[in-house]
Amino acid sequence: MTRGKFITLEGSEGVGKSSNIQFIANTLKALGIAVVTTREPGGTPIAEEIRQILLTEYEEPTLPETELLLLYAGRKQHVEHLIKPALALGKWVVCDRFFDATFAYQGAGRNIAIEKIEQLNQWALGEFSPDLTILLDAPVDIAFERIKHERKLDRFEKEKKEFFEKIRMQYLRIAQKNPHRYHVVDAAKTLVEVQTEIKKCLDNI
Ligand code: TMP
Repeated sequence: MTRGKFITLEGSEGVGKSSNIQFIANTLKALGIAVVTTREPGGTPIAEEIRQILLTEYEEPTLPETELLLLYAGRKQHVEHLIKPALALGKWVVCDRFFDATFAYQGAGRNIAIEKIEQLNQWALGEFSPDLTILLDAPVDIAFERIKHERKLDRFEKEKKEFFEKIRMQYLRIAQKNPHRYHVVDAAKTLVEVQTEIKKCLDNI
């Protein structure tokens, strides 16, 4: 049995991840590939419970370190109980966010030292990594316009513009450092143009 491929989709809020995760799954399915779509934080019952804690605003402030540790607690459950077993069965796993989000949000956004996150990642996951990561990138102003009218905002979505500027820059740095794994797609373009670009990435995997 050939191991499936692990594809992750990244980007800050408002870049259109939800519409495009489905597009990626449908494109792969049309090629006859068995696909599992999932997300982080979340993906398994325990990890989804942890997601709720992460997104909720409590009176007691959530410390950046707590955020980081909760994310990795959920990620470990997700990788061992859902992602790796699916890949072993030859299925392709398409995940809405993965560890790069931690380097962007908790690293650049919450100012946790990147080396600390690298150590934790190495301890929890070893060399486990996506085969392909698609970064949907758009200027923060455009992304902000898109989420303005959405449902009630969660704890992250309530952050200021500067927070998302730092996230965007960090994602672009990660993409530059990992050219073999990363494809940056200009998410400011129309949905049709974005999806044409995504399809090209998938053709080359
Ligand atoms: P979502 O909006 O993609 O569902 O993700 C929920 C929030 O979680 C989003 O604002 C980004 C945040 N997040 C982190 O801060 N670090 C992480 O590692 C992940 C996966 C998500």
